[in-house]
Amino acid sequence: MSDVLTQALKDPGFCQFHTDRTVVVDWDAETGWSGGSLEPYGSTVMDPASLVFHYGQAIFEGLKAYRQPDGSAALFRPADHARRMRRSAWRLAMTEMPADLFTRACADLAAAEDHWIPGALGQSLYIRPIMLATEPQLGLRASHRYRCTFLAYPADPCFGRDFRPISVMAAKDMVRAVRGGTGEAKCAGNYAASLLARGEAVADGYDEVLWLDGVERRWVEELSGMNVFFVWRDADGVRLTTPPCQGTIVRGITRDSLLTLARDLGLPVAEEPTAIDDAVEGARSGRLVEMFACGTAAVVVPVGRVAFDGRDRTIGDGGEGPVTARLRQALIEVQHGVRPDEHGWLMPVPGDGATARTTTER
Ligand SMILES: Cc1ncc(COP(=O)(O)O)c(C=O)c1O
Repeated sequence: MSDVLTQALKDPGFCQFHTDRTVVVDWDAETGWSGGSLEPYGSTVMDPASLVFHYGQAIFEGLKAYRQPDGSAALFRPADHARRMRRSAWRLAMTEMPADLFTRACADLAAAEDHWIPGALGQSLYIRPIMLATEPQLGLRASHRYRCTFLAYPADPCFGRDFRPISVMAAKDMVRAVRGGTGEAKCAGNYAASLLARGEAVADGYDEVLWLDGVERRWVEELSGMNVFFVWRDADGVRLTTPPCQGTIVRGITRDSLLTLARDLGLPVAEEPTAIDDAVEGARSGRLVEMFACGTAAVVVPVGRVAFDGRDRTIGDGGEGPVTARLRQALIEVQHGVRPDEHGWLMPVPGDGATARTTTER
């Protein structure tokens, strides 16, 4: 085993080490889809006139393969990631990759790089498919050529495996998305547009920026790379809410999984708007007992502090609450095959040479 691999398996961090290979899929208006073969990881030379550099046709996904109790590996909800990638492509006027091509590329890469998958609960192989417009052309139109590269990285959750609480500051002057825009798409531009406000939040001592809606600047939307949930307590007990998907937030697959698991566990949950003032006031009064953020990269992390417009409030005692911990545990157990996969979320990664039959290595 190489030193890098040993180190990566021992302490992967979040995508600090890339695996040796990628899968590359191309699309061309004349020839359609091609490729899908494993290639050595390496730099790509691109024409500086490639449309992606000028007009930003760039979309991506992020999904994970998890080690299972029998030593095999399984991808978590790859068909849903394929569907979302197609939806992002549609919004950016890019060609939609067939879902089976997407899932096969992920499975082939995970199978080929199986020895890079760490084994502890919460660890995974993170797969990052990225699709770019590669046609050299300066006229403003959709590209006639795209390249999708699937990258893989052994990974801990991006905020670490101890899931320490993060703090968030709601953005007052900048917005991430408006209805009818690209907020729901996982397109590179959304992330570029979020960096300035995130940098300001970090400079003020917070971990992340919390985005509000672009019209009233009042309703909580999401973080730059994660959805959010609130846990409220009233006389009837606890109740979870998460902002609804109205075209401005990414339809998180973790978010959807947690909505489902919460219902399975008998926790009342609703997709409904929360005003930032209610969150801040709820934290002060004690009605908001927990808040957490969720996404493929982070899994589920508690939010211990929320700030807006000069008010900074601790949520609960600032630590992780029992609902957050319970939901994360349930999710991680399903992902690792320790809890029954009642919703058919896991797709086994082919072992025993099946990969070799579907993939040609160059
Ligand atoms: C802006 C944004 N919101 C939410 C999410 C969470 O989505 P998922 O749970 O599918 O990773 C992501 C990550 O993909 C994201 O980039």
